[in-house]
Amino acid sequence: MRFVELGKTGIRVSMIGIGTWQWGAKEWGYEKSYSEIEVRKAFKAIYENEINFIDTAEMYAFGKSEKLVGEMVREYGRENFVIATKVSPWHLDEKSLEKACQGSLERLGIKEIDLYQVHWPNPLVPISKTMKALEKLLNFGKIRAIGVSNFNLKQLSNARKHLEKNDIASDQVLYNMLSRNVEKDLIPYAQKEKITLIAYSPLAQGLLSGKITSSYKPKEIVRKINPLFSKSNIKKLETLNSVLQNIAKSKGKTVTQVVLSWTMRHGCVVPIPGVKNDNQVRDVAESVSISLSNEELNTIELALKNTRVNKLLGYLEVILNFT
Ligand SMILES: NC(=O)c1ccc[n+]([C@@H]2O[C@H](COP(=O)([O-])OP(=O)(O)OC[C@H]3O[C@@H](n4cnc5c(N)ncnc54)[C@H](OP(=O)(O)O)[C@@H]3O)[C@@H](O)[C@H]2O)c1
Repeated sequence: MRFVELGKTGIRVSMIGIGTWQWGAKEWGYEKSYSEIEVRKAFKAIYENEINFIDTAEMYAFGKSEKLVGEMVREYGRENFVIATKVSPWHLDEKSLEKACQGSLERLGIKEIDLYQVHWPNPLVPISKTMKALEKLLNFGKIRAIGVSNFNLKQLSNARKHLEKNDIASDQVLYNMLSRNVEKDLIPYAQKEKITLIAYSPLAQGLLSGKITSSYKPKEIVRKINPLFSKSNIKKLETLNSVLQNIAKSKGKTVTQVVLSWTMRHGCVVPIPGVKNDNQVRDVAESVSISLSNEELNTIELALKNTRVNKLLGYLEVILNFT
């Protein structure tokens, strides 16, 4: 495994982390297409492949994800993992935040959260208050680092101003080949300020894993309501898919590895693919050992320019399929 520093915290995280929204979540088909058995095997593979960075949230599966992460982290050794969790946007005033943090600590069964992230900004709670409350938790030793998620550049730079003695370590944001908004301003800012961008949905919920073809029909609710998984959008990805397949084939790698490697190319981005089993863990772990040449990057860029997925039409299809 290869490691990078989380922001300026001195905390060392693997270049690839693991997202655990899937663990316990019915909306992802938990207990239908996979269960705790697969999740346990996945965790063993996480440990064996030296991935140390695990992301969860109080919101995921109503706390079940945190419970599963906690059980397994304790089984494989707390010292081997950096645990990131998130406080929900409706818990951002001081009292609720303290209570939420305590709840996460209990579900995780640990004494200190390594990275505590604000899951989404909440315009109804002044960010100054939230940042002060987070700094207090840090001073009390409940958390080791402060992070945010889904903050745009303005929100991130504003939030930083309200921390007295600390800085924000990371911003967890949507980033993949089909959602590239952060490239405009957040990535250059993060590089300059040494803030880690944690990329969620780096595989566009599996759409970019190379396994989704035009005959694919989404089964999980998460994908059924995702406009990118509409029939017409999946069709529009055929050329990109074959470009990615060719690059992967020529390198003896998988499409998933090529896609994750593309996400990591900026240096400040740590992707956290969501996984359901051990094979997926082994596959994503290997992505840190490849690099893409300029020629390969240009080929991908060209394919992306010619890929015109349409979210609006996708939504319309999603709605029509539900009625
Ligand atoms: N901060 C936020 O607001 C936010 C929002 C969304 C997600 N997240 C975090 O980010 C994590 C990742 O995002 P995500 O789960 O939305 O999307 P993702 O990582 O882009 O996609 C996850 C899906 O990709 C597939 N996959 C994973 N590894 C694979 C492999 N090696 N080969 C083939 N398919 C593979 C699995 O599909 P199958 O289901 O087909 O097995 C999995 O369910 C989440 O778990 C969560 O921790 C955060």
